[in-house]
Amino acid sequence: MKIMVVGGGGREHAIIKKIKENKKVEKIYALPGNGGIAADAECVNIGATELDAIAEFAKTNAIDYAIVAPDDPLVAGCVDRLEAIGIPCFGPRANAAIIEGSKVFSKNLMKKYGIPTAKYEVFTDMDSALKYLETAPVPTVIKADGLALGKGVIIALTREEAKLAVISMMRDKQFGASGDRVVIEEFLEGPEVSVLSFTDGKTVVPMVSSMDHKRAGDGDTGLNTGGMGTVAPNPYYTDEVAERCMKEIFLPTIDAMNKEGRTFKGCLYFGLMITKDGPKVIEYNCRFGDPETQVVLPLLESDLLEVMMATTEGRLSDISVKFSDKHACCVIMASDGYPVKYERGYEIVTDEETWKHIYVAGAKLVPAGEAKHGTQGEVANAKRRIDPADVETWKKNVVGDGMALVNGGGRVLGLTAVADSLKEAVDAAYSLTGKVYFANEYFRLDIGQRALGAYARK
Ligand code: AMP
Ligand code: GLY
Repeated sequence: MKIMVVGGGGREHAIIKKIKENKKVEKIYALPGNGGIAADAECVNIGATELDAIAEFAKTNAIDYAIVAPDDPLVAGCVDRLEAIGIPCFGPRANAAIIEGSKVFSKNLMKKYGIPTAKYEVFTDMDSALKYLETAPVPTVIKADGLALGKGVIIALTREEAKLAVISMMRDKQFGASGDRVVIEEFLEGPEVSVLSFTDGKTVVPMVSSMDHKRAGDGDTGLNTGGMGTVAPNPYYTDEVAERCMKEIFLPTIDAMNKEGRTFKGCLYFGLMITKDGPKVIEYNCRFGDPETQVVLPLLESDLLEVMMATTEGRLSDISVKFSDKHACCVIMASDGYPVKYERGYEIVTDEETWKHIYVAGAKLVPAGEAKHGTQGEVANAKRRIDPADVETWKKNVVGDGMALVNGGGRVLGLTAVADSLKEAVDAAYSLTGKVYFANEYFRLDIGQRALGAYARK
């Protein structure tokens, strides 16, 4: 089979590595992929939102099955386009992807069908929003309606901060047209749990739960990012919580989407908060999470491609989807300064054994002469930790002669370890960080600590 994966981050790399395990897969194309994915798939220089070019490529290359991973092509109708030319896809159509594409849609859906979520009001007019805030309880949460690359959510501790957030979204268009409508909602408290699920619109199969670490700094400080690390399973997702989620959230959501004529097929991601009144939905995503996928898929024992195709074909109830009872931890190595300002172009070095545990989020292949390097001292230090001979073998076998792999984004690599206990998985993931080096690398030191604390208190 010829498979096409739309997207080019760590999540896509994890998906590609997993579907490669299926013997029927002859060829995988990644659009656009990245410098690291290039070791596992053929990268094609077509952006994930270039729908015309994607459809054209799929047709010309007789693609048998497509996986559309990121939110923006899904919301823009990539699956609809591919299905129209007869290519089966993993992912929801645009009319269902709206569950992530519009917060107003998803909040109204939850209200209409009694799915537990934070109380909220929607505003299309700035003056009414500001007036509402004069008496609204604080802290409060302000959300821009559309996709804002995970940045359209502001938690305001005071009324003043809330007003400034509304002004920056609605008047100054900080998140573009996404700010034409804002949701102002109740601030919820409790641990957060991510649950990705496979659903064909009839059956919903939750994957192993996970915990993201969204803030840039240790101890959950600093700016919100795309995610600095994850662990799975999430200790706050107990059997009792899971049972309530299935009954009060997962099945009602699938039903609600069907009743609205918007059957959801693909990966539906439930961002949950376990409040003292029970689990509530913080957000829905219409796709695999990043970097949740980097801990969830390594624990999947079933064949991912088979599960995906069963999802597309409406056969989920006929197959069994198995996860191991091990633990996984993913530590994101980012470029220092992310998510604000950072430098790219520094050479990444590692060895082949470590490479097996790496999902590449943002890296580019360039001619070796163009790569930048750290100071002599830093490089010498890295050489003490990573055997230069092993680096050479890795370069020869993975990167290619005369080329260098350089950091090409804010989030650069995800280092994932799987072990029998969370403690061992966390330790192993952190040992991997010692076996990878690039100048200006930055990673949080406390990924998994909160989860370990939760286990300790059990
Ligand atoms: P979202 O982009 O919707 O995932 O929101 C980003 C983050 O903001 C979430 O992961 C939560 O940590 C936080 N958040 C969103 N909505 C709420 C809420 N109603 N109460 C408390 N925190 C929230
Ligand atoms: N890690 C959060 C997300 O993928 O939205």
